[in-house]
Amino acid sequence: MKITVSSFKGGTAKTSTVLHLGAALAKYHKKKVLLIDFDSQANLTAGLGFDPDAQDSMAPVLQGKKKIEDVILKTCVKNLDLIPADTWLERVEVTGSLAADRYSHERLKEILSPLKYDVIIIDTPPSLCWLTESALIASQHSLVCATPEFYSVKGLQRLSHFLENISERHPLQVIGVALSFWNPRGKSNAAFLEVIENTFPKKTLENKVRRDITISESSVFGKPVFDTAPKSRAAEDYIQLTKELLARM
Ligand SMILES: Nc1ncnc2c1ncn2[C@@H]1O[C@H](COP(=O)(O)OP(=O)(O)O)[C@@H](O)[C@H]1O
Ligand SMILES: [Mg+2]
Repeated sequence: MKITVSSFKGGTAKTSTVLHLGAALAKYHKKKVLLIDFDSQANLTAGLGFDPDAQDSMAPVLQGKKKIEDVILKTCVKNLDLIPADTWLERVEVTGSLAADRYSHERLKEILSPLKYDVIIIDTPPSLCWLTESALIASQHSLVCATPEFYSVKGLQRLSHFLENISERHPLQVIGVALSFWNPRGKSNAAFLEVIENTFPKKTLENKVRRDITISESSVFGKPVFDTAPKSRAAEDYIQLTKELLARM
């Protein structure tokens, strides 16, 4: 099963959600998980303790120069593997063999299809670019990330049209909308939830991730919060969010 985490904005906790959802599935649910960092900023790669420019990303695999097995790394979490990102991912679609390929958007899907993982989760850049579109085409599910701010929830409409467009040609479904930086006592919560409900009916996940500094602290250690701060709110919230998503899968 393949899930792409998207939102065409930065700072909606996409990368943190990919990392912790993947780590929770591997650690607490015995799933064999592959994370793919498909953002040249490589925050997921750094967040798992790797130096982004020290190893190959998906870029040479997409170009047909390397096998996918050669770019998969083992992480500090058992059963959790990673394909890192590097700066070559940016503009990979206008380079080498991809530039002349009319169907270049489908190459990631073909590359991933023989892999044997229970779950593959793809982290995307904060824009609706070639990388994001390829990731969505390769996935059956999209997890949408948002924050309780008006410009974030308003932007979901554009994302929804983009996802609908892809789902006309490929079997893609929204599995849920995950809210981070959640303030349980926020005055505008009902208004935010209503906008999301109108854009993605019945998709908002009940479990939300509250604001918690341990998330950015843990990335300094290159580990998930389950290892650096197991009693934190963030660890608790991501464990609950993962359970809810598993029930929807
Ligand atoms: N629930 C949260 N509480 C506090 N900080 C968070 C939370 N989620 C993410 N962060 C921090 O916010 C920043 C942006 O999150 P990130 O996951 O990188 O978002 P995106 O990938 O959407 O740009 C990072 O520094 C991250 O550590
Ligand atoms: Mg990110």
